[in-house]
Amino acid sequence: MKLSNKVSAITPSSTLAITAKAKQMKADGVDVVGFGAGEPDFDTPIHIKQAAIKAIEEGFTKYTPASGIIELKKAICDKLKKDNGLEYEINQIVISNGAKHSLTNAFMAILNPGDEVIIPAPFWLSYSQMVKLADGIPVIVYANKENNFKITVEDLEKVITDKTKAIIINTPNNPTGVVYNEKELKEIADFVVKHDIYVISDEIYEKLIYDGIKHVSIASFNEEIYKRTIIINGVSKSYSMTGWRIGYLAAPSDIAKIISNMQSHATSNPNSIAQKATIAALTGPQDCVEAMRKEFEKRRNYMIDRLTQIPNISFIKPQGAFYIVIDLSNILGKTFKGKVINNANEFGAILLEEENVAVVPCTDFGYSNCIRLSYAIDKESIQKGLDRIENFINKLK
Ligand SMILES: Cc1ncc(COP(=O)(O)O)c(C=O)c1O
Repeated sequence: MKLSNKVSAITPSSTLAITAKAKQMKADGVDVVGFGAGEPDFDTPIHIKQAAIKAIEEGFTKYTPASGIIELKKAICDKLKKDNGLEYEINQIVISNGAKHSLTNAFMAILNPGDEVIIPAPFWLSYSQMVKLADGIPVIVYANKENNFKITVEDLEKVITDKTKAIIINTPNNPTGVVYNEKELKEIADFVVKHDIYVISDEIYEKLIYDGIKHVSIASFNEEIYKRTIIINGVSKSYSMTGWRIGYLAAPSDIAKIISNMQSHATSNPNSIAQKATIAALTGPQDCVEAMRKEFEKRRNYMIDRLTQIPNISFIKPQGAFYIVIDLSNILGKTFKGKVINNANEFGAILLEEENVAVVPCTDFGYSNCIRLSYAIDKESIQKGLDRIENFINKLK
């Protein structure tokens, strides 16, 4: 029988596939270094786990309101006020099963068939698939490498049409780790207001930011941009809670309302126990976040030092998240054992086979000549993996 055209056209997540392959090789006893990780390698902090245990012991194990419990919504409003200077009411918050779910909900809520969503590349691969799922059309706009892969209003003016409904801004960015500064964001905000479109502001890596810089939310500039912004955030990356599946969005109340309605039919509430754990994460001690951030910064610095010494590659210095994008343009076309390496996919496949190192080709992120390395792995593995990559690159002819 014929299956849905729309859903059949969705491609699987290549990052999850690579991570799974590396895990399998490890399970088979291969000494593999996986640079694919999209999640912190730290344990969830103990006070968060204890809040979950308490929730179970107290029998907080039943349905909750579909868009999340009021106590958690209040904690999210307080967080948005404290960290981002934003005023939200609880009827503007929807809590979902991870930020991925919040994003999908956001696109479902704002898009009609044929509406276009501008996605600056390199982009997190799920965005384009989510937009398609919601009957929208992803419009990829290529950021200039010379501008650290950050999009400018000039780039955006070239792709805006009367069908444009929204733009996605993801800062700190996956995969590049670049962070938009206040001036750059302000210009994009003015563009959004001028064209009367929405901005989906994915701030999931907000707390993982380096060099003493501070995250700015695009919604914070003025009332006009605030009412056109859907903020996406969650606890997966900041509190090392990827498996707990709690994300949230903050939006104008009419958008939040229709998303709550949809969620009440599609999934009902996010996990009750994880909601209690998230309250502990947001309202409890924050030194655990700082400890993880510091460790990531150390690893990033080490990666930068090492990568600078490897010939024929270049990279953009990341200031946030836990990824580095490496440009292989000067390597592509070279050969390994007589076989030409044409693109990042081929580079990744041979590297895994020959050196047991898994990296993520950026093909699905919009750049087929780049790879992404995650440093959400321990320092020894990073060291070993980079040794092997250097060795491999030196063997290319
Ligand atoms: C940019 C970006 N947004 C959202 C998410 C989704 O996070 P969650 O685990 O909360 O669904 C990810 C996860 O990799 C991400 O990289």
